Amino acid sequence: MSYEQYFGLREQPFAITPDPKFFYESDQHMGALIRIQHAIDTAKGLTILIGDMGLGKTFISRKLLDKLQSEDGRYEAALLIVIHHEITAAWLLKKIAVQLGVDTPAEDKSSLISQICKKLIELDDAGKRAVILIDEAHMLQTQEIYEELRGLLNVEGASHKLLNIVLFGPPELERFMQLDPPLVSRIGLKFTLRPLDEKSTIGYIGHRLAVSGATREIITREACRSVFQYSRGTPRLINALCDNALLEALLQKKVLVEPALIDQVASDLGLKKE
Ligand SMILES: Nc1ncnc2c1ncn2[C@@H]1O[C@H](COP(=O)(O)OP(=O)(O)OP(=O)(O)O)[C@@H](O)[C@H]1O
Ligand SMILES: [Mg+2]
Repeated sequence: MSYEQYFGLREQPFAITPDPKFFYESDQHMGALIRIQHAIDTAKGLTILIGDMGLGKTFISRKLLDKLQSEDGRYEAALLIVIHHEITAAWLLKKIAVQLGVDTPAEDKSSLISQICKKLIELDDAGKRAVILIDEAHMLQTQEIYEELRGLLNVEGASHKLLNIVLFGPPELERFMQLDPPLVSRIGLKFTLRPLDEKSTIGYIGHRLAVSGATREIITREACRSVFQYSRGTPRLINALCDNALLEALLQKKVLVEPALIDQVASDLGLKKE
């Protein structure tokens, strides 16, 4: 028997995939989303979202992409995920060109840049805001890349910048951006994501359980407090603790997850209270 069946749930509440229906609208996450969208709407050019591991940057980037794409063609938005740090400026420019809808991207950098500029003007004429979201942006580690991004940010129409770039990454992203100080001075908005507080952690756990179909209390409030103390409000750790606790509850035939069970799984995961 799975723990979903045991607890009468439709699906696993704490799976790691960023499924939009599980998105919990905490002050932190909504604060980031609203501010970033405002920066885009007011053509701030460059925005960065900084946050430690597992706080929800990737989930926010997905949510933002869904939101921009659902708004009746007002935005031409794309999400790029940088998977290793050996990518070149030419590779990145080509990706950006393709995402913006350039049909046959050129091989050389300067032709690519003119193709992108032309496309940005076309999009602007059609009343669309061009937005490129880049997750794992700390994998961009050469000066050349940051200079090229700055070049694209300089493309302006009659009254505003034609491209918005949003970079998502851990604090070290800011260190790599120092490779091109003029780019740092062009940051229009920086938002630093913080962990959830105790109240939001309890709300987060309750939300995920409810979305999975829970109709009764499964993790007690005291146990949620304990999850907060071990995870310090980091969503990825909250998920790991709760997922393991539900499985342990099944194995130990407990109807409720109480603090002692959280202590046990936290110790297995090597987590300590602050
Ligand atoms: N607002 C939220 N609502 C529901 N789940 C969330 C939320 N924020 C984060 N999570 C969950 O927490 C986990 C970590 O989130 P995510 O992968 O977005 O973090 P990250 O900041 O991108 O981490 P990394 O630095 O490792 O890339 C995921 O399983 C995600 O589903
Ligand atoms: Mg991530």
